[in-house]
Amino acid sequence: MSAAAGAGGRRPPGGQAALSLRMRLRSLRNRLLASPRFQRWAAAFPLTRPVARRHTRELFDLVAGFVYSQVLAACVRLDLFERLAAAGPATSAALASACEVPEARLEVLLRAAAALRLLERDDGGAWDLGPLGAALRGNPGVVAMIRHHALLYEDLRDPVALLREGGPTTLGAFWGYAGAAAPAALAGQAVGDYSTLMAVSQQLVAEEILAAYPLRRHRRLLDVGGGHGAFTSAVAAHVPGLALAMFDLPAVAAQARERLEQSGLGSRIEVHGGDFFRDPLPRGADVITLVRIVHDHDDDAVRRLLRAVYEALPPGGRLLLAEPMAETRRAEPAGDAYFGLYLMAMGSGRPRSRAALEAMLAEAGFARVREHRTYTPLLTRLLVAQR
Ligand SMILES: C[S@@+](CC[C@H](N)C(=O)[O-])C[C@H]1O[C@@H](n2cnc3c(N)ncnc32)[C@H](O)[C@@H]1O
Repeated sequence: MSAAAGAGGRRPPGGQAALSLRMRLRSLRNRLLASPRFQRWAAAFPLTRPVARRHTRELFDLVAGFVYSQVLAACVRLDLFERLAAAGPATSAALASACEVPEARLEVLLRAAAALRLLERDDGGAWDLGPLGAALRGNPGVVAMIRHHALLYEDLRDPVALLREGGPTTLGAFWGYAGAAAPAALAGQAVGDYSTLMAVSQQLVAEEILAAYPLRRHRRLLDVGGGHGAFTSAVAAHVPGLALAMFDLPAVAAQARERLEQSGLGSRIEVHGGDFFRDPLPRGADVITLVRIVHDHDDDAVRRLLRAVYEALPPGGRLLLAEPMAETRRAEPAGDAYFGLYLMAMGSGRPRSRAALEAMLAEAGFARVREHRTYTPLLTRLLVAQR
């Protein structure tokens, strides 16, 4: 298979001739773009200037991306957004004193955050939330991920070493089940942190799935890898008549039972503990959900899991597979760059394209696979497969 066809698994319309024309055009473009003389000309010529500026900006953003992320991480760790939301606009001096950072240094951070639209400065010189800082306040899951990224950046400090050698990694230790020989033996403290992180970021994902697929048509739902029960809790609030069950590792299931009991959903949601690669899945559900599960596991393990889900469903039953996917149009940096490296650092799984997942679902026996559009494909896409 040629490199061009291998990248997307697709050939352009027009076959071999179109392919070689496309490759020659790309090679010409790349020779031009690599030439300092052409770059100078493109930056000066009025018709190419906007494109040249855009390229320069895109390249600069890639070069500086880590610094941007650290500006954001510092704002989150210093609780800047929460402080400003609670007390209103504040001066650099007041914020410096609250954050216990020398004022001149904090001023650098505040200006950086304003440049990234996280903060804004009013005419009197006081700092307030910017549009992105304000949006973060409505997304506690994203804030939790930002804090958690300290682990990811440990593992990405030497990306070439990660590529060449793989684990053991800091992220692999955080996600205790990744690569574990006996995940069902994990104790409560090995699963609590990742389960809390998942629960806090689940609300948005659940809303996307609930808006994209009418669960009302089903009798009983089983959420496989249901964590602390955040997804089933959202479903319980949204679809009153639906019987609900979830399945997760024994230690996670024990924590889920406790949380569901506390939130008054203990009798509404049945909780099962086990290893979905070894133990049979509970029967009786006409819809099974795998929410942010499949991308965590390598291909052979996914084949076994999809087959187990197929066996657990009655004829006509549905599997809902929801997660961010590779090759998602306009979200490629999330699906392929972010999740690609994140899962590599975690030491197990990979983001898969819709086509790759469809092929695996067909292999497991599912007859029909449809994509139901979500509002935010970057966050999650949804495939519905029928047994
Ligand atoms: C990335 S989390 C997703 C949790 C939840 N579905 C969500 O979206 O918030 C993956 C979940 O799969 C569970 N899991 C991983 N391996 C498992 C296994 N072999 N058997 C049962 N559950 C497992 C983990 O404990 C965890 O709760």
